[in-house]
Amino acid sequence: MDIAVRDVTMDQLEQVAPLWDQAWRVSGRRRTAVPLALSIDRMRRRVDLAAGGGYRFLGAWIDDTPVGIATVSLTDGGPMMDAPGVHIHVLHVDEEHRNRRVGTALLTEVTRWAGSLGSDQVVVDVPPASRDVARWYAAWGFGPYLNRRVGTTSGIRRRLGMRGPVDLTNGRGRLAAATAMGRAAGR
Ligand SMILES: CC(C)(COP(=O)(O)OP(=O)(O)OC[C@H]1O[C@@H](n2cnc3c(N)ncnc32)[C@H](O)[C@@H]1OP(=O)(O)O)[C@@H](O)C(=O)NCCC(=O)NCCS
Repeated sequence: MDIAVRDVTMDQLEQVAPLWDQAWRVSGRRRTAVPLALSIDRMRRRVDLAAGGGYRFLGAWIDDTPVGIATVSLTDGGPMMDAPGVHIHVLHVDEEHRNRRVGTALLTEVTRWAGSLGSDQVVVDVPPASRDVARWYAAWGFGPYLNRRVGTTSGIRRRLGMRGPVDLTNGRGRLAAATAMGRAAGR
């Protein structure tokens, strides 16, 4: 069975939306499906981001069926990394297509990309409750790294006493940052 891994394009978003929704639900971020338009908007921002370099939104396909997705970006990694690494934010295989090497195909492309950027480390976020997923990565040589914490921009701003509105709608700031990272990586 041939598995093709390619960058997701704008015209594929509707096809990929159910997988995107599934990934967000299994990660424990929410229990119910969100409206299609919202998923498409979130994915469109990722495809936009990818155009700037330093970020990729990958889809795995068997024939014309999307069976897996991954989003990855270059990451600084902080003091624990000597050089920028590649960070897997999501790597998700459709529940009906597990154990057919789709995850392996996505990880292969991510690792190939890391190598082409001169990155010698790949980092992944695994939801704390996903022991199975952690085992899968452990089998590929991933060990424990940082304990990540997350806060909302508005909550942090409030505690810092920052005033004025914050525009979280157009993602332009992130696009600019990714473009600069992409240029630095020669992509
Ligand atoms: C983890 C995951 C990516 C694996 O994808 P997959 O396509 O099923 O895995 P593959 O078929 O490529 O696995 C290859 C090998 O790993 C083994 N494997 C599969 N799942 C495993 C697991 N949980 N633990 C250990 N090994 C596992 C397979 O048996 C296979 O070994 P083999 O070739 O010797 O038979 C997939 O199960 C998944 O998407 N899980 C949910 C991820 C998630 O939580 N997403 C949301 C947040 S990002």
